[in-house]
Amino acid sequence: MPYPFVGNMELMGKQRSLELGTLVLPTLLLLLFYGARGSHCSLVHGNMTDRRSLLDFKEAITDDPGGALHDWNDGIHHCMWSGVSCSVRHPGRVTTLELGSLNLTGQITPSLGNLTFLRELNLTDNHFSGQLPSLNRLIKLEFLALRENILQGNIQDATIALANCSKLMWLEISSNMLVGSIPRKIGSFSNLVFLDLSQNNLTGTIPPTFSNITRLLYLFLGENQLEGNIPGELGQPSNMQALVLKGNKLSGRVPSELCNISSLILLDLGMNMLSGALPPNIGDTLLGLEWLYLGTNNLEGHIPDLLGNASALVHLDLSSNYFTGQIR
Ligand SMILES: *[C@@H]1O[C@H](CO)[C@@H](O)[C@H](O)[C@H]1NC(C)=O
Ligand SMILES: *[C@@H]1O[C@H](CO)[C@@H](O)[C@H](O)[C@H]1NC(C)=O
Ligand SMILES: *[C@@H]1O[C@H](CO)[C@@H](O)[C@H](O)[C@H]1NC(C)=O
Ligand SMILES: *[C@@H]1O[C@H](CO)[C@@H](O)[C@H](O)[C@H]1NC(C)=O
Ligand SMILES: *[C@@H]1O[C@H](CO)[C@@H](O)[C@H](O)[C@H]1NC(C)=O
Ligand SMILES: *[C@@H]1O[C@H](CO)[C@@H](O)[C@H](O)[C@H]1NC(C)=O
Ligand SMILES: *[C@@H]1O[C@H](CO)[C@@H](O)[C@H](O)[C@H]1NC(C)=O
Ligand SMILES: *[C@@H]1O[C@H](CO)[C@@H](O)[C@H](O)[C@H]1NC(C)=O
Ligand SMILES: *[C@@H]1O[C@H](CO)[C@@H](O)[C@H](O)[C@H]1NC(C)=O
Repeated sequence: MPYPFVGNMELMGKQRSLELGTLVLPTLLLLLFYGARGSHCSLVHGNMTDRRSLLDFKEAITDDPGGALHDWNDGIHHCMWSGVSCSVRHPGRVTTLELGSLNLTGQITPSLGNLTFLRELNLTDNHFSGQLPSLNRLIKLEFLALRENILQGNIQDATIALANCSKLMWLEISSNMLVGSIPRKIGSFSNLVFLDLSQNNLTGTIPPTFSNITRLLYLFLGENQLEGNIPGELGQPSNMQALVLKGNKLSGRVPSELCNISSLILLDLGMNMLSGALPPNIGDTLLGLEWLYLGTNNLEGHIPDLLGNASALVHLDLSSNYFTGQIR
């Protein structure tokens, strides 16, 4: 299901990252590199650790059908390698590694945990397998995008591997093969704006500690095996714009606290085992709601007068439930 406005957030996030100083200035780096070749080598090769870490990562890539890493070789400064950007203020220090949609096969090596200036790691849509290594030294990391790979292991271990990345704003590990239950510790990533763990094999209940992530705008936990009630605390990150819990085994009522998130644009609770009546105030407060999916649950009772007042609503699915009465 496409959620177009989330794409806009991606752009917003990127712009913020750029403002924060991840400048990509290839020409300047070229000049520095070639200009400094003779006597001032140390300026450019200021940190060989980053170069070694990248080479170590490359060695663990077992298939690169498009030759994406063909220029990762001796003749070229590592800041000029495809997908790599470096800091301007700290020459040679890698700030971005962006290798999405390249059909790369391999493992994410622990050496990436040595790129201590890294702000952004994007390996989306490849064939990376194995577990997420410890990235605990990456205290500057803001964007981690690993969607659509075949990463394995327990979400608890993945959380520990990131425990010190307290600046993380964007955490996207959807469409992988993670198992286990979401740890309460998830609440300690208090700067998260975007969290997507959908399409894994997560079990257990949704921890109430999401209420700690007050900046959260987008939360996607759909298509897992989550069970139990939807915690009312999810109503706490009160600027949330999208909450997607579809395709789990969630039961109990739709908590009335969710109706307090007046910023919600998308609410998708479809394909669960939710029961009982909808909170009566659902139409009063969710005035900006554009997408509401509650289909394929065991919900019952009257449909609140939400159709009349949720005037922004463009997509509504209440099908396959036990609703009665009239739509007004
Ligand atoms: C190079 O990077 C390593 C690993 O992050 C760090 O420990 C070391 O202090 C850095 N050295 C310099 C000169 O910046
Ligand atoms: C990745 O693989 C797909 C399917 O084999 C192919 O269509 C696509 O062009 C490949 N992309 C790259 C960058 O090699
Ligand atoms: C990651 O890379 C993909 C391209 O493969 C891009 O579409 C996506 O926007 C990037 N994600 C982030 C968070 O920058
Ligand atoms: C990380 O860098 C240190 C040196 O700063 C080195 O001793 C260690 O082997 C590196 N770890 C990996 C996994 O590359
Ligand atoms: C987090 O960083 C601190 C200080 O650098 C370190 O002592 C601690 O072991 C790190 N935590 C983990 C889980 O690696
Ligand atoms: C909630 O946030 C506070 C302050 O940021 C932090 O000290 C605490 O550990 C967090 N709780 C959880 C469960 O993450
Ligand atoms: C999820 O876990 C269940 C039970 O362990 C297993 O049967 C199923 O194949 C797994 N699904 C995926 C997509 O990994
Ligand atoms: C919703 O918010 C109002 C005012 O902020 C508060 O009085 C009320 O208790 C909240 N309702 C729920 C169910 O959290
Ligand atoms: C719907 O909106 C109308 C006009 O804005 C208002 O009079 C009415 O009380 C609202 N109904 C509900 C159920 O909030």
